[in-house]
Amino acid sequence: MATDLDIILKKYKQGKREELIPILQEIQEELGYLSEEAIVKVGGFLGLSTTKIYGLATFYDRFRFIPSGKIKVSICHGTSCFLNGSQSVINKIKDEIGVLPGQTTRDGNFSYEIVSCMGGCHNGPLINVNGEYHAHIKAEQLPELIKRLKYVIEND
Ligand code: FES
Repeated sequence: MATDLDIILKKYKQGKREELIPILQEIQEELGYLSEEAIVKVGGFLGLSTTKIYGLATFYDRFRFIPSGKIKVSICHGTSCFLNGSQSVINKIKDEIGVLPGQTTRDGNFSYEIVSCMGGCHNGPLINVNGEYHAHIKAEQLPELIKRLKYVIEND
């Protein structure tokens, strides 16, 4: 039975190394991160060592190597959001969740990432929680927001 990885790789030409980044992007879009299994499979497909693939993929900060949390928060740190206080939002979420950007809490519930402009500069600081935007967010709103999200996870 063909897996998601097989279906993705079928679209590309075996051994064509310049397709590495598009392949990794597509896998991440599909799986949410680059699993060890995926890296090994891509390595076999393109004839590249896993070390080489990790080396290249870690150069791009958009790639993740661990699954995102059930709740995934993206915090905009583009110029406009920065000028409107996104740093205090980032600091607060780090305190509340207890992990660094790009990491996932041990229970698998939360992860967050810092991104550049989300295209809503007039509404900054802007965050996105599982696809839903929250505009003009303030650091002091985060504890309540996270409490609500935890409730949703626990009662899902
Ligand atoms: S800088 Fe944050 S949305 Fe543009």
